[in-house]
Amino acid sequence: MFLGPPGAGKGTQAVRLARARHLAHLSTGDLLRAAVAEGTPLGRAADAHIRAGRLVPDDLVLGALRERIGRSDARAGFVLDGFPRTLAQARALDAMAELDAVVSFELPEPVLLERLAGRRICPKCGAVYHVSASPPREPGRCDRDGVELRQRPDDRPEAVSVRLRVYAEQTEPVLAYYRERGLLRPLDASGSTDEVARRLTALLEGE
Ligand code: AP5
Repeated sequence: MFLGPPGAGKGTQAVRLARARHLAHLSTGDLLRAAVAEGTPLGRAADAHIRAGRLVPDDLVLGALRERIGRSDARAGFVLDGFPRTLAQARALDAMAELDAVVSFELPEPVLLERLAGRRICPKCGAVYHVSASPPREPGRCDRDGVELRQRPDDRPEAVSVRLRVYAEQTEPVLAYYRERGLLRPLDASGSTDEVARRLTALLEGE
């Protein structure tokens, strides 16, 4: 499980780790954004919360995760990214899955802000770029499908400040929950994506 503040690089590392170890990548943020894009009832209920930087209500997120975790590709194992965000979600997860490790991505706030401000995503395939750290080959266009890249609505400064506050108030207690169970592994998430990936591999191999 990857926990950490917005923009810490959880999604970037989760995609790499899942590919390398043939695991499913379960991101509640991606599930919710897909639901918004498809206009499903879940997406319509979640949209305003996400745009404002608030958490989506627990019952909605839990329903989506329960369905995702039950799919066949998650049976051989998964990387959980961005879930749980509240103590109620953490307690509900106890009944759904057994965890090997909880990695807590740690990064100073000025670096988080720089990563969030520079993030661009492909609205078609969901690929994530950064204008300076991992730019696309052609500026503003996705390498895979040539679609114009966008900024996430919740990466606007007003929403980012709400997300950071929500993280401190509602998700930091989740770190304590796993620390008390001896599962929490802090990870220095600074430096390039390759450097972070190497640190992550070393940390997981020590398990
Ligand atoms: P979610 O999508 O989970 O957002 P988040 O947790 O805020 O995390 P981010 O996606 O912003 O950041 P990340 O750590 O994955 O960073 P990334 O790898 O992209 O959630 C969005 C919203 O959905 C929530 O606010 C909430 O409304 C709702 N939601 C989701 N889950 C929920 C739940 N469980 N309960 C309730 N509501 C929920 O990297 C960021 C940028 O930095 C990218 O541009 C990347 O290219 C770049 N980058 C990454 N690593 C590096 C590096 N090492 N060096 C330089 N640049 C880097």
